[in-house]
Amino acid sequence: QARSEVVHVAGDSDPSLMDSMHKRLDAMKKQPVSIIVVGASGDLAKKKTFPAIFSLFYHDLLPEDFVVYGYARSKMSQEEFRELIMSTLTCRVIDGRKCSEKMDEFLPRCHYVSGKYDVSSDFSALSKELAMFESSNEVSNRLFYLAVPPSVFQKAASNINLAGRSPKGYTRVVVEKPFGKDSESYRELRAGLSSILSEEETYRIDHYLGKELVQNLMSLRFANSIFEPIWNRNYIQSVQLVFKENFGVEGRAGYFDGVGIIRDIMQNHLLQVLALVAMEPPVSLHAEDIRNEKVKLLRSMEKLSKDSFVIGQYEGKGEGQPGYRADEGVAPRSKTPTFAACVLNIRNQRWEGVPFMMKAGKALDERKAEIRIVFKPAAGSIFSVPNTIKNNELVIKIQPDESIYMRIANKVPGLTSRMEEGRLNMFYREAWEESKDIPDAYERLILDVLNGEKSLFIRDDELEVAWDIFSDAIHELEEDPNVEPESYKYGTRGPVGADHLAARHGSRWS
Ligand code: NDP
Ligand code: BG6
Repeated sequence: QARSEVVHVAGDSDPSLMDSMHKRLDAMKKQPVSIIVVGASGDLAKKKTFPAIFSLFYHDLLPEDFVVYGYARSKMSQEEFRELIMSTLTCRVIDGRKCSEKMDEFLPRCHYVSGKYDVSSDFSALSKELAMFESSNEVSNRLFYLAVPPSVFQKAASNINLAGRSPKGYTRVVVEKPFGKDSESYRELRAGLSSILSEEETYRIDHYLGKELVQNLMSLRFANSIFEPIWNRNYIQSVQLVFKENFGVEGRAGYFDGVGIIRDIMQNHLLQVLALVAMEPPVSLHAEDIRNEKVKLLRSMEKLSKDSFVIGQYEGKGEGQPGYRADEGVAPRSKTPTFAACVLNIRNQRWEGVPFMMKAGKALDERKAEIRIVFKPAAGSIFSVPNTIKNNELVIKIQPDESIYMRIANKVPGLTSRMEEGRLNMFYREAWEESKDIPDAYERLILDVLNGEKSLFIRDDELEVAWDIFSDAIHELEEDPNVEPESYKYGTRGPVGADHLAARHGSRWS
């Protein structure tokens, strides 16, 4: 069954918006497109991009006339490329026969061209191949997905501009994060890219914005009347934004060692989530209105310094759990943080004095991403509530096991008056039939690029402020010879310094 009936769009509860979205979807499906994945041999392309494109095809959400081109320096034959793609594909809805039929239909549309990112004649060769597919179409669009490290963005984009543009349709370019290394390099990259690609053609992706529970933040906050009155400094004691992975950087050190966890996760994924949690209600669900509110919020945040942070780096624990520095591609004395925790402050009427605590780390004890809104304790309580549940918490679990729940103090049933923690739960798996088939964030976002829908992409001024918040701190941490990341063992909760940081702000990590 085509998922076009349940495509979730910003504002799909509004019938007129729904209607226009469906029209847009139908129009999009009639427009031929070439999807070119630049960096096709890489981790992101294999893990996310190709599976997402296939899933859109599986659910009948790609244009009827499309091709997928992989482009990278690695040499690969068409067969090897198709095998590589094949090995990455899965079907969410298990219907074995349909799945393999769809794969058989999909693979012949996939092609590979090997070329360098900084050689425009290689892009011309790619363009020639694309032109063959496009020759019978009056209109043909090109969507370039830059799944390459940030150091390559500018070169690849310049060559797309010189030799890769569609001669008879739109050219859209998806750029991955991190977009730059700091405020200065961001401005350079922005100036460089804006001279060759218009803002309209540029899609700065942050896949956390495509995650189901992150998209739901707007509905949760602005479509319910119970949250808004308490969504402020009068009731909220602190907000926690947590990202944990239970695996290291294995195999991605070449990228990660020059980047570190602050640029990889905090400056983009967690800050975007923070902006949606803390911004004022937008005037409407249109992309510019939402992005205006996010920029306003980010501009009212204090810049961070190195003292706002605790950083850490994992060391090995045993077989299968190698230390960060043991990874191929990591400098032997690398100080790159694989863990960081920090406290951010928002200087506005709603949030003054409420610490926004962020924590992100690799090789920790579990994999999860969540938001915790920690409320102030009940005033003048007549109950003896255990310390562990004095604060109500609203927990938005982004992954895994998507759920929203409230931690409350509750009387244990029976003759005693003992209090224990109770939970008001909404587990997506139980609450929604559709949650068995939640699209991957990349699927949603690539569909939005095809539709020209920008509300889940980052605007240039938004990124500029985002870098300004983190840039000084990143430099201070990297340049101060006395700063050493605290080490922690693979598979643990991370450095104890993070607990002390939370305690200094009257909080503790869950
Ligand atoms: P990779 O390290 O896998 O690089 C992708 C491809 O780029 C490689 O296969 C390689 O292809 C080429 N490449 C790698 N290093 C260089 C270099 N120094 N110079 C030129 N080309 C190079 O990166 P990822 O796929 O992990 O990430 C790509 C982008 O996507 C990054 O910006 C990352 O932040 C972002 N991202 C990644 C995610 C992930 O889970 N991996 C998730 C979200 C975002 P070849 O040698 O064949 O040309
Ligand atoms: C990417 C980071 O942006 O996000 C990776 O580069 C990280 O280091 C990944 O592993 C996490 O994404 P997800 O969707 O698995 O939480």
